[in-house]
Amino acid sequence: MKLWCVLCLALLWVEIQNGACQQIKRRKDVGENRIRPGGKRVKIRHPKLKDGGVKGQSLLTQVLDKGRFVRLGPSTTLTPGKNMELRCKGNAIGWSYPTYLDTFNDSRLSIRQSDKYSQLILTSTSAADTGPYSCWVIVCDGTECEKDHDRAYVSYIYFSDKDNLFVPSAIHFEIVYLRPDRPAVVPCRVTDTQAKVSLHREVPPEEITANSTLVTYDPTKGFVLRNPSPEHQGVFYCKAVTRGTPQISTKYQLLYVEVPSGPPFVSLDASPESVRGGDNVNVTCTVLGEPEVAVSFIWSYPGQDRRPVHIHTSWRLVNRGMGHTTRVSQSVMTIEDMETIDFGNYICKAKNQHGETVVTTDIISK
Ligand SMILES: *[C@@H]1O[C@H](CO)[C@@H](O)[C@H](O)[C@H]1NC(C)=O
Ligand SMILES: *[C@@H]1O[C@H](CO)[C@@H](O)[C@H](O)[C@H]1NC(C)=O
Ligand SMILES: *[C@@H]1O[C@H](CO)[C@@H](O)[C@H](O)[C@H]1NC(C)=O
Repeated sequence: MKLWCVLCLALLWVEIQNGACQQIKRRKDVGENRIRPGGKRVKIRHPKLKDGGVKGQSLLTQVLDKGRFVRLGPSTTLTPGKNMELRCKGNAIGWSYPTYLDTFNDSRLSIRQSDKYSQLILTSTSAADTGPYSCWVIVCDGTECEKDHDRAYVSYIYFSDKDNLFVPSAIHFEIVYLRPDRPAVVPCRVTDTQAKVSLHREVPPEEITANSTLVTYDPTKGFVLRNPSPEHQGVFYCKAVTRGTPQISTKYQLLYVEVPSGPPFVSLDASPESVRGGDNVNVTCTVLGEPEVAVSFIWSYPGQDRRPVHIHTSWRLVNRGMGHTTRVSQSVMTIEDMETIDFGNYICKAKNQHGETVVTTDIISK
């Protein structure tokens, strides 16, 4: 529930329209059968499924007018502006769809489960709805339910629109982080597989040619840079042509990040360094890391559970020159009016998705 509140607040800030907020809440209540794109498990109490259909064949179909069905292959091209109805056979089905439909006004999307199949309806489709749509069978053992990976089907659906060769993005200026140890993606996806796409640097103006080894183009992802390096930094955009005039994508700021993935790199400092009874002390735990890697802090200290302290946690991005960017995460513990019980070991445990690091500092009485 907390997460929804935060999301709502964020949306309120951006949209200043509380309609969007209530809508998300409502959808959460209604969507008990839904599996979120993150792959989070949803408990569904349904009897075990008997048989989903012919083995190996996709259970994902599109309903055409006059009650005709078409089985969807790995990719499908549709005309935007119409309603789309997808069906997936089975009495307990999970869905995923472009995350953008969850983030923004998504009243166009509805999912209904009946005895025999689940139905996903998206009304007034547009180029922005281009992306992977997938459904899978949910198998339950008592109250424990999970996705049946052998019966998961996906179709990448292009809503081809000659006025929007690029899948429109809500963000007009995106940041792409480049790391030495993994490919980077400039996500200019197209709505038409026939479009010829190129990647361009803004200053100095230069076309980055796609070649099969270092830079490749995938219409469902964008430009993939195999070995990002500091030379790839700068402002870029993509250009697409079919017939007619070329179209330009949103802009992408490519930033090179040097910090390797791993447990946090932590430092711990007390200020002032020498303390006597009655002083106020700040103990600061600092982590330098990758821009989008969140860090959490846990403190242990001598007066724990016996006296109130103030803890303030924050983070900011720092440009370290040459376009390298670092996230500085900090937790500051303030102890006012130091007493005898407050002297001793202050322990900061910093945690990120890769691991944790523990650092200690001893505050002794002067
Ligand atoms: C959501 O979409 C509906 C129908 O398209 C529209 O009436 C409504 O104003 C939209 N709400 C927001 C918050 O954009
Ligand atoms: C791809 O580009 C890189 C650097 O721009 C170059 O070294 C390499 O030879 C090119 N490969 C092909 C197959 O053209
Ligand atoms: C502790 O931090 C606060 C907030 O940054 C600051 O105002 C205060 O002067 C600091 N106190 C000491 C002793 O460093």
